[in-house]
Amino acid sequence: MEYVNLPQRSQRLNSESKKTKIHKIFSVDSLRSEPFGRELRVERLRVEDCELSGEIFERKSPQGRDELMAPILAVQKLYKSFGGVEAVKNVSFELEKGQLLAMIGPNGAGKSTCFNLINGQLRPDHGRIIIMGAEINGSKPRDVWKLGVGRTFQITATLPSMTVLENVQMALLSYHGRTHSLLRKVGQLYVDESRELLEQVGIGDQADRACGVLAYGDLKRVELAVALANKPRLLLMDEPTAGMGPAERQTLMELTRHIVRTRDIGVLFTEHDMDVVFNHADRIIVLSRGELMAEGTPADVQTNAKVKEIYLGNEE
Ligand SMILES: Nc1ncnc2c1ncn2[C@@H]1O[C@H](COP(=O)(O)OP(=O)(O)O)[C@@H](O)[C@H]1O
Ligand SMILES: [Mg+2]
Repeated sequence: MEYVNLPQRSQRLNSESKKTKIHKIFSVDSLRSEPFGRELRVERLRVEDCELSGEIFERKSPQGRDELMAPILAVQKLYKSFGGVEAVKNVSFELEKGQLLAMIGPNGAGKSTCFNLINGQLRPDHGRIIIMGAEINGSKPRDVWKLGVGRTFQITATLPSMTVLENVQMALLSYHGRTHSLLRKVGQLYVDESRELLEQVGIGDQADRACGVLAYGDLKRVELAVALANKPRLLLMDEPTAGMGPAERQTLMELTRHIVRTRDIGVLFTEHDMDVVFNHADRIIVLSRGELMAEGTPADVQTNAKVKEIYLGNEE
């Protein structure tokens, strides 16, 4: 069984041995393309050994006017190489709040590398990443998380034996920095807030079911509710609709768009399904071999000759 490197959340855990196990629960990056394998793997964890620490993290609030006026995300002349491979090369773009920005490009274009640079998992070779006015270059994932950057796929730690409601309660406990053993029932903690989040993502009626029995589309909604529990200002969604049917994809993105508007947050997402991209993104950036090839509204990008060239024979 293989687990990828840690997302932010496990860094908020104290004890080494416990850390490893939580780390695994939340490390689902490598599993996201195997939706039906994921639950099995999570089942194999010894849940009773896990415990969240009581470490409390204050989220920074934007202070001055400059921070409030700043775009949610500004990427400036970003570079990242792996050995001889220039995965990201001179990439610049901005994301305003209330916007859904799609990052598209063929496999190997540098999309995931961009995401990993933005959430602090990778350090850029050159360039700047500014989140709500704060430069995060060299910041650890935990510090980026504290600025209000969330990521959906890392959390599919929907523990299958726990109910949907309990999963969201656990996420809220974590957000509030509360200690809690996974062995104990979360009881009445944050019940109302959890139910409200589940209503918002459209699965209020599933609250008391075990996550393990949910349909895949509903599981993705739980994932979204869990991500929202952390009150992100910027949400990074790497292939949020992978593994879903076409109708379900559209529904999830409509929901995401609604959340972006009502919470006034920014979402950066990657997506292979061009219908989803063109129907739901406010703006699109196109990467190819690490470089930004085009940027604009769906209409701009759809008619862009360079983009057509990149995608010719590259339809996925
Ligand atoms: N950790 C890594 N080590 C070496 N090469 C990498 C690593 N991550 C990505 N790459 C390379 O960087 C390029 C961009 O990859 P990636 O960002 O995953 O693209 P995408 O997400 O658009 O498919 C690819 O050529 C890939 O092989
Ligand atoms: Mg990728």
